[in-house]
Amino acid sequence: MKTLLHIDASAQQISDIAIPEDSENIPRHSSISKAIATSFIRCWRQQKPQDKVIHGDVGINPPGFINQAWIAAVFTPDDKRSEAQRTLVALSDTLIEEVDQADVIVMSSSMYNYGMPAALKSWFDQIIRINKTFTFDLTRGDYPLEPKMSGKTLVLITSAGEFGFAVGGIREKMNHLGPHIQTLSHYLGVEEFHEINVEFQEFGDQRHQNSIREALAQSTTLAVQLTSNL
Ligand SMILES: Cc1cc2nc3c(=O)[nH]c(=O)nc-3n(C[C@H](O)[C@H](O)[C@H](O)COP(=O)(O)O)c2cc1C
Repeated sequence: MKTLLHIDASAQQISDIAIPEDSENIPRHSSISKAIATSFIRCWRQQKPQDKVIHGDVGINPPGFINQAWIAAVFTPDDKRSEAQRTLVALSDTLIEEVDQADVIVMSSSMYNYGMPAALKSWFDQIIRINKTFTFDLTRGDYPLEPKMSGKTLVLITSAGEFGFAVGGIREKMNHLGPHIQTLSHYLGVEEFHEINVEFQEFGDQRHQNSIREALAQSTTLAVQLTSNL
């Protein structure tokens, strides 16, 4: 049995978006990235009903921003933390435990200001933590950080209003969403990274419909492929 951690990040939830007819089974969310991720999870469950899915929606329930007291607490050894410090890092502990359990992380994200939503960045800030998810050792030279977890797969599903963010696209250099998440995912123990992108949302034209249709097809193919490999 495998465990999936499904993290949604869009601030939107209720739907009146035009999803093509072939996606009639997708719940009517207004978030496109959440709709595609939901389709991926549904397809996974059809293939592997016994697998466990942990779901978190940081767009609707954003984790708090880290602050000075939080940083002081995580740099205090476990057995020396005060009660107040233990309370401060409790959410971080829970979120890390969820990542630790996961074989596959399915992450859906909107593009906001060419990057990830602040709530998703906050989730990463809570999780990428010294001595919990990475170790730091200056004897390693120029790359002192090493992840403690390994062997995970990340499926990133994004939606953007504009287009051309892929490698070779007209806005490749403006894309701080996928590349940023791929860089961070190393510290979650991710060794296999897949990305599915919807674009053109702000144009609302045929290109957008095609992009949604293509993303749905890719998500089905990927779910079938990963369930047969894992
Ligand atoms: C606050 C905000 C910022 C956005 N910034 C960008 C952007 O920088 N580039 C872009 O292509 N689209 C941008 N968009 C459009 C969203 O990426 C697009 O609506 C996407 O479908 C949102 O994801 P969702 O449908 O899963 O909620 C922005 C939308 C909002 C609400």
